[in-house]
Amino acid sequence: MPASRRGSGSFTLTTGQTIAIHTRTQDEEDLPHATKKTMADHLRKYESLFTLTPQRMRMIVEAFTETLELGLNKPNQIVPMIPTYVFGWPTGQEKGDFLALDLGGTNLRVCLVTLQGDGKFEISQTKYRLTEEQKQDDGQKLFDFCAECLHTFVETNTGEGAGQLKPGQSLPLGFTFSYPCSQERIDHGELIRWTKGFGAGNTEGRDVAEMFKKSLEKYQLPIKLTALINDTTGTLIASHYVNPKTKIAVIFGTGCNAAYMENVKNITKIEHLGIDPGAEMAINCEWGAFDSFEHEHLPRTKYDTVVDDTSNKPGEQAFEKLISGRYLGEILRLVLCELIDEGVLFLGQNTYKLEKPYCFDTAFLSLMESDPTDELLMVIGIFTHFFALETTLAERQFFRALAKLIGRRAARLSACGIAAIVSKMNYLDEGCSVGADGSLYNKYPGFADRVHEGLQDIFGDKGRNIVTYHAEDGSGVGSAIIAAMTKHRKDAGLYLNV
Ligand code: BGC
Repeated sequence: MPASRRGSGSFTLTTGQTIAIHTRTQDEEDLPHATKKTMADHLRKYESLFTLTPQRMRMIVEAFTETLELGLNKPNQIVPMIPTYVFGWPTGQEKGDFLALDLGGTNLRVCLVTLQGDGKFEISQTKYRLTEEQKQDDGQKLFDFCAECLHTFVETNTGEGAGQLKPGQSLPLGFTFSYPCSQERIDHGELIRWTKGFGAGNTEGRDVAEMFKKSLEKYQLPIKLTALINDTTGTLIASHYVNPKTKIAVIFGTGCNAAYMENVKNITKIEHLGIDPGAEMAINCEWGAFDSFEHEHLPRTKYDTVVDDTSNKPGEQAFEKLISGRYLGEILRLVLCELIDEGVLFLGQNTYKLEKPYCFDTAFLSLMESDPTDELLMVIGIFTHFFALETTLAERQFFRALAKLIGRRAARLSACGIAAIVSKMNYLDEGCSVGADGSLYNKYPGFADRVHEGLQDIFGDKGRNIVTYHAEDGSGVGSAIIAAMTKHRKDAGLYLNV
């Protein structure tokens, strides 16, 4: 009898699907597999491709910092450094009922947030699934669907918050629309480009706030769009509401981006608006676009080039494509496909399942890295259950090491982005907290530690002064706080300017 072991477990993919797997190792093999030495040789090659030295990181930070400055000084830059018209920090005393709608990447979420003051809040929410078709269909239809979900939510939440509305009264809504939009005021936003695989027609170049208002009118909802915000801006404000040391917010999820608070006097491209130079305004960096088109600064491998070329937006979001959850699984899959083509992996097995683009979920990388068993039973489960492929221990160890290289590179590049903002704002000596959110940050084992390690490689010991932590829900709570801040400004007659 061949020696065998069993294992089982369950996990949730980024698509929301929960999978239970039961596995058994087989020590007796009849298929031709790569030897331990072959796998070790290949690993060395990938190590040199995916590893970022501290010196290289410092060079990236330098170029990144210049790019951030450029975006503040000139309009329409690749990294657009978008003024958000969110002026200054919340007081923590914001109060009231607010609706928040969150159109992020995977789901649509509607929240009713009750801000209670003193940094406290209550939230009730419902998630609605977005189909691939909705992401590619007509934009107005997408906003109609958002309004329809809001309608259902408000109807089913009567008796609470929304149900207590008096005739003629409307609930303020913060709309978190997490794509690059250039804003002229807080309830306006022209979509610069779709990211994260979205491609809904008739939307780029248009004011999405206007489009959404049109959809709200169709459903005659007692709702007023008060603020259009980005998830990073929401995260910045929500995190500061509960932790006033927060100066930067980052999202590491399907997409990747950051926001921070800037002095208006430094945003020279909007000097003509005559806003008080002494005021502060949140900037949505849209840093995912760093190094787009020119590809001068980032260490792209041939796998990254393929990811880019075959995406619906070639050339764009160059930084994001090396970091975010949407792409990491695909990068690893492309390496595996190369080794299949070279006749190194899975000889004699049918690999068609693995050859489908984007079939290798980034959650698999997390799971492989966190597999606690000596035989790597989780890795066996992934390859047999999803791809009908048999693996040896040496191969599984290689897959895990590869996941580690790709995940670590993503975290170290993320550290470069954070370091660029820290350098630009001179936060290194006094230190700062960075509110971070998104599936990669929250679920990928060791991601935060690797970001911190990267910050120390860039800044030396002082890098310890920059600490990331799991942020508050920016798209829900943050959106509500910004709606409250905006309402307060409007009531005080300060709609556009300070
Ligand atoms: C978008 C940003 C967003 C980020 C995280 C990126 O693709 O361009 O607006 O903040 O994803 O959701």
